[in-house]
Amino acid sequence: MEVPAPDPRAQEKAERAVGLYEVMDAAVAWFTEQLDGPEGHAARAYLVERGITEATKRKFGFGFAPDARGKLKVALKRFGNEKLVEAGLLIAPDDDKTGGGKEPYDRFRGRLMFPIRDARGRCIAFSGRIVGAGEPKYLNSPDTPLFDKGRTLFNIEKAAPASRSQGRIIVVEGQMDVVALDQAGFPETVAPLGTAVTETQISQLWRLSDKPLFCFDGDAAGQKAATRAARRALPLVQPGHTLAFLTLPKGRDPDDLIRMGGAAAFATLLAAPQSLVDKVWRAELEESDTFSPEGRAGLRQRLDQRAASIENPYIRAEYKKTFEDLFWEQFGWGKKRVEVSSELAESRKAKRKGFEYLLMRGILLGLCRYPDVLRDNHDLADELEITDPKLRRVYEALSLAVFEKPDIDEDMIEEMLSTSDTGPMEKRNIHKDLSFSFFKKHEPARGRADLRNVIGAVVAEREIEAALALANKNFREQVEGPEWEEQQRLRSERDRMKAGLVSWVEEATGGNGNQSDDAADDLAYGLGRA
Ligand code: UTP
Ligand code: MN
Repeated sequence: MEVPAPDPRAQEKAERAVGLYEVMDAAVAWFTEQLDGPEGHAARAYLVERGITEATKRKFGFGFAPDARGKLKVALKRFGNEKLVEAGLLIAPDDDKTGGGKEPYDRFRGRLMFPIRDARGRCIAFSGRIVGAGEPKYLNSPDTPLFDKGRTLFNIEKAAPASRSQGRIIVVEGQMDVVALDQAGFPETVAPLGTAVTETQISQLWRLSDKPLFCFDGDAAGQKAATRAARRALPLVQPGHTLAFLTLPKGRDPDDLIRMGGAAAFATLLAAPQSLVDKVWRAELEESDTFSPEGRAGLRQRLDQRAASIENPYIRAEYKKTFEDLFWEQFGWGKKRVEVSSELAESRKAKRKGFEYLLMRGILLGLCRYPDVLRDNHDLADELEITDPKLRRVYEALSLAVFEKPDIDEDMIEEMLSTSDTGPMEKRNIHKDLSFSFFKKHEPARGRADLRNVIGAVVAEREIEAALALANKNFREQVEGPEWEEQQRLRSERDRMKAGLVSWVEEATGGNGNQSDDAADDLAYGLGRA
C-alpha cells in the first residue's frame, strides 16, 4: 500500500497553528481581565441587563475589548505584530481600506467578546458584540489558519458532550441564543457564525444526532435561513439522518422566548418539531402562485426536482411520493384524496398538547387561589379535558374539597395537596409561562372574573374544534354538500373566538407593560398552531 506523501502546505499550516493557539489563549485571558476591570463597566452592566449570570459569564469566558486602537497590541506585544495579525487580532492597514495609518491596530474595539472554540475546547476565533449602539452589531475574526467560519459551530465544545447525554442537538442563529438556552438548561445548543449553514456544518451535526433541531428566529430572515438549511440538507438526507424545525413566535428569537416564558416555553416548542419534508413542502407552497394552473404546475415541477436531487434512492422515492400526496391533498379533487403525513398530524397534536398542559396548569393554579370560582362554575369546569394525570388528580381533589369545606382558601388547599398523594402544585415560573391576572394577588375580583372566562373559552374552543372535525370528516366523505357551509361557519366562529381570547388575555394582563403583548402573542401562537 502506498503511503501518501505529507502535504507540505498542510504541514506548514499545522506548524503555524501551534503558535497561534497560544496567542489566542493569551487574548482570552486579557479580554477577560478587561471585562472585570474598570473599562469593562458598561459591558458588565450590559450582561446584567440581558440576564446573564456570573456563572454563565465565566462558563463562556466572556471578555471585553476596550474602545482603543492599540491596547491589545501593547498588552500582547511579546507575540509580535505579525503573529497578532495572523491570529486576526490586529488589522494590518494593507488589508483594510478604511485603516488610515500604517501601523497594525486592534480589530476588536468596544466589544463584548465571545471566544469561539473548536471541539477540543481550544479558542480559535472571537466574535465581538458592540456594547451600545454601533455597526456592525457582531464582528467576527477573519478566517485564519485556526478558523474557518463554514466549518465552525459556536459552543460545539460544550454542546457535543451535552448532545450525547441529552440525545439531541439544537441549532440557533445567534450566539446570545446559545447563551440564553444554556443558562435555561439546554447546553446542547450551537450556532453558525452569521453565515448560512454549510454542508460541512450539517455533516458535523449529524455526527452528534440523527435529527438536529433547527430553531431560527421567527422573522422573515430567520425563516429564510431555516428554509435554506432545509434545502441544502435535503440532497444529503439518509435513512436515519434528517433535520427538524422548531418555529418561534413571530418576531422572536430563542433568547426572547426564554426571557418571556422561561425554559417551559422552549420545552413546549421542543415537543413539536416540524419535519424536513413538511418544511420543504411548505416553503415551495408559500413561494408559489397556487391560484393558476401554471403556478400549480410549477410547484409540482419544483417539488419533483427537489425530490430528484436526493442522493439516497430510497429517500428519494419516499420524498417523491410524499410530495405527490401532499400536493394531491392540497389541490386534488374527489376520491383520490388520501390521508397523508400522519407525522405532521402527530407533530401538530404534540404541539397542541404542550400548550394545553401550560394552560391547564395555569387554570388549576388559579382555582387553587380562587376555589370559589370552581364551586360557582362547577358544571362548566367539569367540561375541561384535563389529560395530564397529575393535574387531573389535583382537579378531582379540589372539586371534592370546595364542596366539603365551603370556606376553604388557598393556604388550606396548599396544605391539603402537599399532604395528599397528589403533592403540591408546581408554581415555579408560572407567571412567566402565561401572564394571567389571577396569578397576582391584588385585584381578586378581576382575577376571579378572568379565571372564569379562561375556563369558558377553553371549553368553547374544544367544542368548536370537535364540531369542525366532524364537519370536515363529512365533507371529505361527500366531497361537496351542505357540510361545506357548516364547515365554513365553524371555521369563522373558531377564528373569531381565538381573536377574542387573545384580546381578552391582552386585557387580562394589562397594566403589565410589554408583558401583555407577549402573553397575547404566546396565546395566539399556541392557539394558532393548534
Ligand atoms: P441577530 O441580529 O439575530 O443577533 O444575528 P441576536 O442573536 O439577536 O443578537 P442580540 O440578541 O441583539 O445580541 C444573529 C447572528 O448573526 C451574526 C451573529 O453571529 C449573530 O449572533 N451576526 C449578526 C453577525 O455576524 N454580524 C452582525 O452584524 C449581526
Ligand atoms: Mn437576540
